[in-house]
Amino acid sequence: MAEQKTFAPERAVLWTILNASHIGLDKILEEFLDNAVSAHAHEIRIDLIQNTKRGFIMTVEDDGDGIAEEALSWVFSVGHQPGKSVAGDHNQFGIGLKSALASCDYHNDTWAVYSRVTACPGRYVRVKAPYREEEIDYAVCRTEEESWPGELSSGTGTLISVPVTKTLFKSLDPKWVKTDEECMDTLAEELAVTYGPLLKDVRMTLHWKFLSGKEDSRTIQPIQPNWKQIVLRKEGEELNLGQGKLMADYAMGAVSPHPDTQKYYKCNITSSGLMVYLNGRLIQANLFKEVWNQPHPTYNPFLLQVNLRMVDGNREALPNPTPDKDYMVLGDPRFIQLLSWVRKLCPDPKVCLPKTQKESAELAMCRQMAEHLKASGAASVANLEMPLPLVNKKAVRTDLYTRLPDGRAVLYETKAQASKVLDLAQLAMYGLVAAEDGLDLDELVLVAKSHGNNVQGFAQMLSRRWFRDLPVPTIRLLTWEEVQNGAC
Ligand SMILES: Nc1ncnc2c1ncn2[C@@H]1O[C@H](COP(=O)(O)OP(=O)(O)O)[C@@H](O)[C@H]1O
Ligand SMILES: [Mg+2]
Repeated sequence: MAEQKTFAPERAVLWTILNASHIGLDKILEEFLDNAVSAHAHEIRIDLIQNTKRGFIMTVEDDGDGIAEEALSWVFSVGHQPGKSVAGDHNQFGIGLKSALASCDYHNDTWAVYSRVTACPGRYVRVKAPYREEEIDYAVCRTEEESWPGELSSGTGTLISVPVTKTLFKSLDPKWVKTDEECMDTLAEELAVTYGPLLKDVRMTLHWKFLSGKEDSRTIQPIQPNWKQIVLRKEGEELNLGQGKLMADYAMGAVSPHPDTQKYYKCNITSSGLMVYLNGRLIQANLFKEVWNQPHPTYNPFLLQVNLRMVDGNREALPNPTPDKDYMVLGDPRFIQLLSWVRKLCPDPKVCLPKTQKESAELAMCRQMAEHLKASGAASVANLEMPLPLVNKKAVRTDLYTRLPDGRAVLYETKAQASKVLDLAQLAMYGLVAAEDGLDLDELVLVAKSHGNNVQGFAQMLSRRWFRDLPVPTIRLLTWEEVQNGAC
C-alpha cells in the first residue's frame, strides 16, 4: 500500500498574481465600473490626471450604495463570494476590485478607496495601500474635518484612486502610434459599447488632463451599429440554458461601417459576428467560428447582438464569464446551450446579407411559403437556402429552415413534382448532417406535388428507426396544395 504523506505549498504572493490579472487599462477600469453599476450608481465619474511624465492618477467615483465599515473585511478579501443579492449584477468572484487595484499599483503603495454610506452621514471610510493579507489599516473620517475627496454631491458612494503608468495608459494603443487624446477616444468607445444597454440609467463621464495642459471631458453615450437592415429583433424572449429562466434581447442584421468608431461595428472580420452581453454588460464580441463556420469576408456586414438578463437575481441561469470578464467559459454547459440557441436563431448569417442571385421556380414557391410562415407568425425565423457543410466541407444548400416561436427548428425540402424515396432520404441526411454541425432539427418536412405509398412507408420507417441516440425528429409529408391551404 502506498505511503500517504503531506506537504505544505509555499504561500502565494497574492498581490503579484492579482497584478497579472488584466490585459489593459480598459479592462481594469471596467472592474471599478462593474462595481459601481452593481452598487446601483446613477452617476459615475472617471478622471485621468497626468501628474508626471511617467504616469497618471486615475479616480473612479460613483454615487452608489457605498461600502459599509462592517463590510470592509469581506470586500477586501480575495475570492470571497457574497450572496447574489449583495454582490449585484456584475460581481461574482470576489476578485475584481483587488485585481484592478493590484494591476494598477504593482508596488502596492499608492491606491486608496474612500466610501460613504447612508447609515453614517457626515463620515466616510478611507482604506489606503498597502494591501496586506492579515490586517489592513483604515481610517474613519469626519467630513467637517476632512472633506470628501470627490466631486459628486450625493451623500453616498465610493471613490477609488489608483496610479496609472504611461505604459499601462498606452495599453489602449499597443502600437504606440496614437496621441494621448486619441487613446481617450479609444477608451470612450470601449466604454460606450461595453455598457451601452446600461447607459440609459447611468450617467458616465470621462475627464482627462495631460501634462501638456490639454484637458477635456466627455459623457459616454451608447453607440448603435449603423444597421443597413435588421432581419430580426426581439426584446424579452424567455429562454433557459439549463439552469433556470432568463430573458434575451436581440437584434440581427447587416451593418454598414460605422463612421465614428475605431474598433466596433466596422463591417470587417474583427468586428462582425455575435456579441454577447450579460445583464447589459458586453462580455464577448466577434464570436463567429464557435457558432458557424470559419469567418469569411462575405460575412463582414453580419452582426447579432444578444443581451441575456437574469431574472429574480438568478445568476446561475447565465453563462459564466471568465473572472476578467473578457470571455465566456467554453466548457460551461450554459455557453454550449447558448451557442446552440443562437444557431437555431440564425443557422446561416448569409440571410442577413443583401441577395444577388436569380431564383428557380422551386425557390420562388419556397420563398412564398417562407413569407407566409413569417407573416402568419407560424415561424419567427425563415431562411431560404441554408447551407449545411458536407463531409468534405463543401456546403449543400437546403431549401428552407424555420424556427418556430417555441424555439423548435424545422427544415423543409421541396420538390415541384411528386416526391421520391430518395428525396426523403436526402432530407433525412440533412437532418443528420445538421446535428453533426451542432444544429438539432426538431422537424423534417418534405413538400412535393404528391407523395406515393413508398415515400409514406419510408417516412414511417424513419420515424421508428432513426440514427443511434439522436432524438427522433418529427417527419412530415406535405403537398403544395396543403401548403396553399395554410398547412405548413
Ligand atoms: N464601488 C463600490 N460600491 C459598493 N460596493 C463595492 C464597490 N466596489 C466593490 N464593492 C463591494 O466589494 C465586493 C467585491 O468586489 P469585487 O472585488 O469587485 O468582486 P467581484 O470579482 O465579485 O466583482 C462587491 O461584491 C461589492 O459588494
Ligand atoms: Mg466586481
